[in-house]
Amino acid sequence: MSSQHSAASPIHPGWTSDDPAERRAAYAACAVELDALLAGEDDPIARMATTAALLFQRVPRVSFVGFYRVVSPELLVVGPYQGPPACLRIPFARGVCGAAARERRSQLVPDVHAFPGHIACDAASRSELVVPVFAPDGALLAVLDLDSHAPSAFDQLDQEQIERLMGEAFGQGPA
Ligand code: SME
Repeated sequence: MSSQHSAASPIHPGWTSDDPAERRAAYAACAVELDALLAGEDDPIARMATTAALLFQRVPRVSFVGFYRVVSPELLVVGPYQGPPACLRIPFARGVCGAAARERRSQLVPDVHAFPGHIACDAASRSELVVPVFAPDGALLAVLDLDSHAPSAFDQLDQEQIERLMGEAFGQGPA
């Protein structure tokens, strides 16, 4: 059981291998699982809720997995998530999530204390990965935020794989 969940928690600790090939295989299995879970559902909130729930169980070391939705120009509002209560509104001008939305590209942050303007919804957060989520027409729908209490919990492989998952679940990337 990973340290961020209590021993009594039913939460899956995620896959345990650090081997890149095994991690890619784990993400591929996750993609198959997500595709099956989302089959036939076109409501974006239902799709986001299910995606957050699955990734929270499967990706190792996460303390938070959640969507911030683009609800008006330059503003993100919290959407479906798993983890402790999080900040509700994030302007594009602020934080790691704002940077991902503004730049329309992923932000891989091995040390949140070294990221100027990082928003600490959870004071124990040490590293994060934020991936933009695009609609099929290339519009920015949301960003997906994964946080961890461990430093450098995510790397380039996680970024590539989560980007691919978001493309498959919500669209095919920026126009
Ligand atoms: N750390 C994020 C804010 C969201 S929460 O951590 C859930 C940021 O700097 O944008």
